[in-house]
Amino acid sequence: MSSDAPILEFQQVTVDFGDSLGLDNVSFQVREGDARIILGAAGSGKSVLLKTALGLLRPTSGRVRVFGEDVTDLNESAWFPVRRKLGVLFQEGGLFDSLTIAENVAYPLENNRKDPLPSTDVFQRVKEALEFVELGHTLDKVPSELSGGMRRRVGIARAMVTKPRLTLYDSPTAGLDPMTSYTIVALITKERCVHNTTTMIATHRYQDGHFLANYTYNGQTQSIEPRRHHGEDGDASTRFWVMREGRLVFDGTQSELGRVDDPYVAKFMKPRMDCNGN
Ligand SMILES: Nc1ncnc2c1ncn2[C@@H]1O[C@H](COP(=O)(O)OP(=O)(O)OP(=O)(O)O)[C@@H](O)[C@H]1O
Ligand SMILES: [Mg+2]
Repeated sequence: MSSDAPILEFQQVTVDFGDSLGLDNVSFQVREGDARIILGAAGSGKSVLLKTALGLLRPTSGRVRVFGEDVTDLNESAWFPVRRKLGVLFQEGGLFDSLTIAENVAYPLENNRKDPLPSTDVFQRVKEALEFVELGHTLDKVPSELSGGMRRRVGIARAMVTKPRLTLYDSPTAGLDPMTSYTIVALITKERCVHNTTTMIATHRYQDGHFLANYTYNGQTQSIEPRRHHGEDGDASTRFWVMREGRLVFDGTQSELGRVDDPYVAKFMKPRMDCNGN
C-alpha cells in the first residue's frame, strides 16, 4: 500500500436487509491519522457502517478496502488477519462477564493463534493498555465489580491492546454521564494522538466530535490541551459525517457542519440535552 492510499475505503456500498437498507450507496475514503465523527439518528446506519468495515456485515453491492486490500469477497477465515489489525469498541460493550479484566483485555492478543505472543509479553501489553486508561489496579477484578464508565475504559484498553492503526468506536459515550463521557473522549483523543491511530467514532453526541476536533494530547505535559488550528476551517483531518436512513448525507469539517442549512443535518451541530441532561 502506498503511504497516501486510503486506510479504509467504501465504494458505493449498499447493505440490503430485505425489508430495509442498512447502508445505501455509501462512498468514502479515510486516510492514516484521520478522525471521523459519525453522527445520525438512531437506526440511521452508524453501527451497520462500522460492522461492514469489520466484515461482520457483508455489502450487497459495492466494494470495501481495508489497508488497501479489497476485502469485499473475503471468506470468514480470510477476515481474521484483517480484523486483528483493527481496534474495536462495540456498542454493546462486549466484555465477557466471567473473565477478569486482564483476561478480557488479553483476549484480542490471545485470540491470535497464527502469531501468538509469549505470555509475559501479553501480560506487559495488557498492563500497559490498562494503565493507559488509568485502570492498572483492576487486573484481577471482574466486569461486574466496575462502574459503567470503568467498563467502557476497559473496552478502550481492549481496543488498543493490539496497537491497531485503525480503531472503530461504536457509541463510546452512550448512557454515560457528562463527566464520564468527557473522560472517555479524552482517552480516545489521547490514544489517537499518542499512537497516531486513525479513529472513527459513531456517536449521538456532537460534543464528542467537538472534543476530538479541538483538543490534543501533549506528551510532554501529559495533558489534554486545545489544538492549534491553522486556517479558519479548524482541523481538516477530523471530519464530521451525518447519516440518515443508511445514506451519508453530510461529510465535512466542523465549521462546514456549522454552515449547513438542512434541518436534519443542522440538528446534530448543536449540543442537545437528552432526558439525562447529557
Ligand atoms: N443484522 C441486521 N438485520 C436486519 N436489520 C438490521 C441489522 N442490523 C441493523 N439493522 C437495521 O439497519 C438500520 C441501521 O441500524 P444501525 O444499528 O446501524 O443504527 P445506528 O445508527 O447505529 O443506531 P443507534 O444510534 O441506535 O445505535 C436499522 O433500521 C436496523 O434495524
Ligand atoms: Mg448503533
